[in-house]
Amino acid sequence: MSIKQRKKDHVDLTVGGEVNYAQSTGFEDYRFVHNALPEVDVASVSTECSLLGRTFDFPLFISSMTGGYTDAGAVNAIIAEFCETRNLPFGVGSQRVMLEQPEETESFSVVREKAPTAFIAANIGGAQLIGGLNSEKISLLIGSIEANAVIVHLNSLQELMQPEGDRNFEGIEDGIGQLIEESSVPVIVKETGAGISGDAAKRLLDKGVSVIDIAGAGGTSWAKVENKRKEDANAESAFDDWGIPTVQCLKEVQPLKQNYDFELIASGGIRSSFDIIKALCLGADFAASAQPVIKAVVNDGFDGLDHLYRQWQKQAQIILTLLGCQNLSELGLHLLRRTP
Ligand SMILES: Cc1cc2nc3c(=O)[nH]c(=O)nc-3n(C[C@H](O)[C@H](O)[C@H](O)COP(=O)(O)O)c2cc1C
Repeated sequence: MSIKQRKKDHVDLTVGGEVNYAQSTGFEDYRFVHNALPEVDVASVSTECSLLGRTFDFPLFISSMTGGYTDAGAVNAIIAEFCETRNLPFGVGSQRVMLEQPEETESFSVVREKAPTAFIAANIGGAQLIGGLNSEKISLLIGSIEANAVIVHLNSLQELMQPEGDRNFEGIEDGIGQLIEESSVPVIVKETGAGISGDAAKRLLDKGVSVIDIAGAGGTSWAKVENKRKEDANAESAFDDWGIPTVQCLKEVQPLKQNYDFELIASGGIRSSFDIIKALCLGADFAASAQPVIKAVVNDGFDGLDHLYRQWQKQAQIILTLLGCQNLSELGLHLLRRTP
């Protein structure tokens, strides 16, 4: 199976198939504390926020998704144009294909043409860093899209479910350390839906990672996606629900802020502005989402994505008002109650 075909299957399955975790993120265990006396004008509520020193209009990072075949270039172009218009950060999908087949660079580099000023993150798998990525490849990753950051994705579960996937994960930690030393831009490390525990986060922070995106369980299950790509007889469906729920990851990683200087992105199953605001109350600096975005883009293009965004942004302003907050910096654990 070629990498291009695999990338295409991933988009088709996440847009069309039932590929969500059976277990949930844990956000539904919390309710907001309604403020009967908000003393806030909804029109002046701000959703401005920052990440890696840049100011954005809304705390939504469009998660890394695709690239490496012609239609992926079209998806990336729409996301890029949208993020340029709405001042949101985004990541391209894994650039491994581009490093192996330079003729596929265009489906990635199109993002900088469409988004000359947006914050764009490069993307590479942790397994590709084993033994160190040479400086020529690092320059290509960053230079091809003039990236503002590099995202390393950790996806051992997904790889192990793929018949053609990587099997060896020894040396990723050192590879990340080496990338941090050689990269001209900050390094973000993310999972792809199985979650980053407090222990794993601590090891990443000891290497010097600037941003951790927990990408926990409760949204897209990459084990499920890979198992759907196989003949039934080869599917390892017992792993479809493997992973640490997003809220559990947040609770384990957030306390590390007492001892480390880093920013925290909450993702994995972010499906509404309610999830985003709850994540921020639980200590995240930013949220990120993949599946709702790819569905909107593939089904309804730029307008579909913009419609989704405007709905989330408007709802976030209403939520903030009902919590009595003028801006995101006022959010905190005191605004949530655990449901009995
Ligand atoms: C179509 C698709 C392709 C993806 N490809 C990548 C990728 O190349 N690199 C990566 O870091 N994550 C990739 N992901 C994972 C997402 O960035 C995200 O971490 C994961 O899907 C969980 O978020 P969600 O529940 O909002 O979908 C992909 C997700 C989707 C939906």
